[in-house]
Order: sequence, then C-alpha cells, then structure tokens
Amino acid sequence: MEPLQQFEQFEAAALAALANAKDAASVEAARVEFLGKKSGRIKELQDLLGKATSEQRPTFGAKFNEVRQRVTAALEARQLELAKPKASLTGFDISLPGEPVRLGRRHPLTQTMDEFKNIIGRMGFTVANGPELEDEHHNFEALNIPLDHPARDPLENFYLATATATAGGPVLLRSQTSTVQIRVMEKTKPPIRIVSLGRVYRPDTIDATHSCMFHQMEGLMIDTSVTMAQLKTTLRLFATAYLGRDVTIRFRPSFFPFTEPSVEVDMSWGQGWMEIGGAGMVDPSVLRAVGYDPDEVTGFAFGFGIERFAMRRYGITDIRRFTENDVRFLSQF
Ligand code: PHE
Repeated sequence: MEPLQQFEQFEAAALAALANAKDAASVEAARVEFLGKKSGRIKELQDLLGKATSEQRPTFGAKFNEVRQRVTAALEARQLELAKPKASLTGFDISLPGEPVRLGRRHPLTQTMDEFKNIIGRMGFTVANGPELEDEHHNFEALNIPLDHPARDPLENFYLATATATAGGPVLLRSQTSTVQIRVMEKTKPPIRIVSLGRVYRPDTIDATHSCMFHQMEGLMIDTSVTMAQLKTTLRLFATAYLGRDVTIRFRPSFFPFTEPSVEVDMSWGQGWMEIGGAGMVDPSVLRAVGYDPDEVTGFAFGFGIERFAMRRYGITDIRRFTENDVRFLSQF
C-alpha cells in the first residue's frame, strides 16, 4: 500500500470508530487504539515518517499533521457530545434557563409594625399582647367607659352572641387596643413601659380612609412621676425616627373616659397637620380599678392608627389596598 494511502486509511478507520462509539468508554477505547502513546496505531504512521526519504519527508510530514489534527478534533467533539445529558435520559434539558423564583415578602403593615416595635423598643418599651376577642370589662368598664357611653352602642361594635358571655361580661371584637393597658396593669406592678400592636374592629362603612378592621399601637407608661411632657417627647421622638425627619407634635384638648387630661395628637412634618390618635394621662379611677394608688403613681397612655402612618410614609391613598392582597401592590414594599 502506498504510504499516503495508509495515512488516509488510518484517518477513515479512526473517524468510523469514533462515530460508532456509543458511550464514553468506547470513545476512550478508540482513543487508545488510534492515538495511544504506547501502542496506538498512530505509531505505524510515525514509523512511515521515519522511513521516508528526504524527498518524501515534507509531504508525509504535512499529511501526518493533518490526519492527527482531524482525528484529535473528532475525538474531542465526540467526547463533548457524549458528556451532554440527553433529553431522553433526564426528562429535561438542563441547559435551558431556569424559571425565576419569586420571593415573598412581609406585608407592608407587618413591616411597619416591626419597625414601630424596633423604634419604641429602643426607648425602653416592651411589647405586650392581648386577645382580639375581648369582654366588656376590659374593652369598656375597666377603662371607665360607662354603660350609657355612645361607644358602647351595640351598633358601634361587633358583639358576639350572648351565649359566649364570660365572667368579664358579653364578648365582642375589641374596638381599641387600650384593653391591653388593663390586662397588663391587672397583672403587673409599676413601673410599666409597654406597647401593644394589633387589630381592632369597628362596624364603619368601608371607604378610602375607613375600614371595619384596622391596626392600632397602644402605649402605656406608669411610674412614680410620669408627665405629659414625657408623653409628648416620646411621641415626637418616635414619629421623627419613623418618618426620618423632624416631626412636630401638637396636642388638642379632648376627652377619653380613661385619661385625664386627654388630647388628640396631631403631627406635622412639613405639609399640614395629620391626626394620628389619642393620648392622655391615665385617669386616677382607672389606676384605682387595677389596684394602683394614684397618689403614688402616674402614667400616660396613647393609641394611634398604624395604617395612617404607613399610608403617609408610602403615599398610599386607599386603606383598602392593605387587605386586597393584590400582588402588584404588595410587591412594592
Ligand atoms: N383608645 C383610643 C381610641 O381608640 C385612643 C387612646 C389610647 C386615647 C390611649 C387615649 C389613650 O380612640
């Protein structure tokens, strides 16, 4: 056989073996058979080169290099091909881009409440909790709200069937978080510094600024000489920390059965006044009812709507957004 034919035959045999190799092991076997350093058939071609005359050498050398390059390239291509998982083997193509994972997030009101707890916590207030199903004793009586007070009108509250009445009287969905003041004072001796955040319920007609369920943050501080000035400072520092700029607090005289004096609290941070809630000095009769001596301790209490703060801070114009569960809204926080 002509030497040049031998080169061609080597190439054809090697390419055929590679094409027929169905797995990595057969490719490796073909590599050893043809290109193996010790006993591969490529040695025969090297021998031919060795025996070539000086005229043959340039042609043989060029041919040898070409053939070796093509076989090596075919080998690498086949190795790559077999390394790729086949769709039929795995059921899916792992080279396709993945589906993006959508991360959930905390509800904007939960985020707001967590932030509130954080800020007020740095001022020494710990978090207390109370039930949403409350009795008349905690929702009204202990808070000095008499039976004939308009706030006790059954049409202004969500009462449960009378069959659920307890030792504390008929049961209703709490209409204010002030109930937690009573629960804490009944169980704890002064000094007290707590906040309580949670849902309250009132049968209001639902519109952009009213809901039959909303959230309040209640604050209570009791000690031997708590003053109204401390109340105002606490509210100012809190609002300033939350809104990120200097907030002015304004008190307007008001009335709540459980505080004396009582105020409506407004705040301003540049653009007009916004009413944030009620506050005052805990009424002596409330202190007495939980067994405290009003001559020894005084305290302040405040309660405000959480939605309002969050709406102001984020520019939300409709309170219903919070409960619609529209992901387009929720994903913005
Ligand atoms: N509980 C009152 C309300 O819901 C707010 C308030 C809390 C007022 C504490 C005074 C002291 O309107």
